[in-house]
Amino acid sequence: MSLININPTTTASWKELSEHYKDIKDIHMKSLFLEDSDRKKNMSLKFEDLHLDFSKNRISEETLTLLLQLAKESKLEDAIEKYFRGDKINATENRAVLHTALRNNNTEPILVDGQDIVPEVHETLQKIKKFTQEVVQGEFKGYSGKPFTDVVNVGIGGSDLGPNMVVEGLHYYKNHLKTHFVSNIDGDHVAEVLKELDPETTLFVIVSKTFTTQETLTNAETIKKWFLQSATENDIQYNFVAVSTNLEKVKGFGIAEDNIFTMWNWVGGRYSLWSAVGLSISLAIGFDNFKNFLDGAYAMDQHFRKTEFRHNIPVILAVISIWYNNFFGSESEVVIPYTQYLQKLAPFLQQLSMESNGKSVDRNGEKVTYQTGNIIWGNTGTNVQHAFMQLVHQGTKLIPVDFIGFKESLYGNEDHHQKLMANYYAQAEALFAGKSAEEVHLDMKVSGDLQKINTLLPFKVFEGNRPSNAILIKKLDPRSLGSLIAIYEHKTFVQGIIWNIYSFDQFGVELGKELANKLLVN
Ligand code: F6P
Repeated sequence: MSLININPTTTASWKELSEHYKDIKDIHMKSLFLEDSDRKKNMSLKFEDLHLDFSKNRISEETLTLLLQLAKESKLEDAIEKYFRGDKINATENRAVLHTALRNNNTEPILVDGQDIVPEVHETLQKIKKFTQEVVQGEFKGYSGKPFTDVVNVGIGGSDLGPNMVVEGLHYYKNHLKTHFVSNIDGDHVAEVLKELDPETTLFVIVSKTFTTQETLTNAETIKKWFLQSATENDIQYNFVAVSTNLEKVKGFGIAEDNIFTMWNWVGGRYSLWSAVGLSISLAIGFDNFKNFLDGAYAMDQHFRKTEFRHNIPVILAVISIWYNNFFGSESEVVIPYTQYLQKLAPFLQQLSMESNGKSVDRNGEKVTYQTGNIIWGNTGTNVQHAFMQLVHQGTKLIPVDFIGFKESLYGNEDHHQKLMANYYAQAEALFAGKSAEEVHLDMKVSGDLQKINTLLPFKVFEGNRPSNAILIKKLDPRSLGSLIAIYEHKTFVQGIIWNIYSFDQFGVELGKELANKLLVN
């Protein structure tokens, strides 16, 4: 069954929110804290080892009630059920949206076109497991009989960003295999990667859902030519595997049928890292860790599916984001993980959110009259404090932040970790509280800068009242990263439902591709 289409601006809650915005827009969060001494507790949620504090937002309980009412009026409950049970909610492509089935731990049937997909999902997982064990243990060898030392993931977009982010994110759990990623059609990219490699001991994983993507096919052909300088066509079966829905095209490339890992058209590219697209993750950290990663996402799926909205982490994050985007007029959101391991989280989230919700036509085919997808950006703390945070603290734009921190460091360097986390807390506090003219005045007086007060004071004032969410996780590990990514997937879904757009197609990337192809022909 298809989604119910409701223009959010026609709902009673949207109208109430517009009125309510006028009441709240000039209120400082400090007074909201003064009104409710339990605000932090009331506006915190817990899931396993993950804690979300959303108290530093320009919202009251009434705001939340109205936002959650908007979710209800948008028939979010109905949409969630259709999403998980495999209805064809990706109507423009006539497909179900079932990345959640890839991490589903139970054997209850999920039907697509009357066919239970669960057995084939589990079969492919078994194949990933067996292959991972054989490669890691050196049983599946390269063409000359040597075990593999290097793995190269060749793919782009969803066939690159997710695996790349997770392999880097979970580097601490990595085994002896070195993992490389080739994505850009820029020949220098592939050349730089190949120059380090030995064809005898390198496994190439060609990942393309469609196996028609220009970048991936061009890189794969270049790699094949390079490989054939040392090996024969017959050797391709030892050193090349593929992940795709397009079996014929993969076979045409020369990859042995046994070396093909299937995926399905009910998995969107940007949601595909849970499928065999995540093969390079499994190879890098071992299957058990990969399974823990899937389990973390599955646990978050259960939370999202079963928890009422007021205590539902993805729903809360989604509606708060809508509050800023559609009522405060914020255009972007910044995500700042306080761990160097998650340096590639922002590019991953950019595709996830912006390819999903960068739409200006609603589900009725009408041009929308309200804002949809946010601009997502970010990088790691503390590096960003020496880069773009100036603009977030004192610029003219209201930019909500997600801070992501970890209670424990992986190598246990307490001195570094305390400093890192002091910064994590300080940034949120500084954005929230700011620094008034009186405080600046006092500071300058105390430090003996009296004569500069008249000239410098205005520049040193921070107005504060700048919102942020604080996600605090015990430790970065496969399970917690799985849950974290699932939060952002479901947040994206909720926003698409409320904005009444289709989040699972991406026609917007086609025109550029067509024009590039025309230019190549001419
Ligand atoms: O950028 C468009 C897109 O279709 C993405 O959605 C997808 O992740 C990427 O290209 C790669 O596609 P494929 O896996 O089919 O090569």
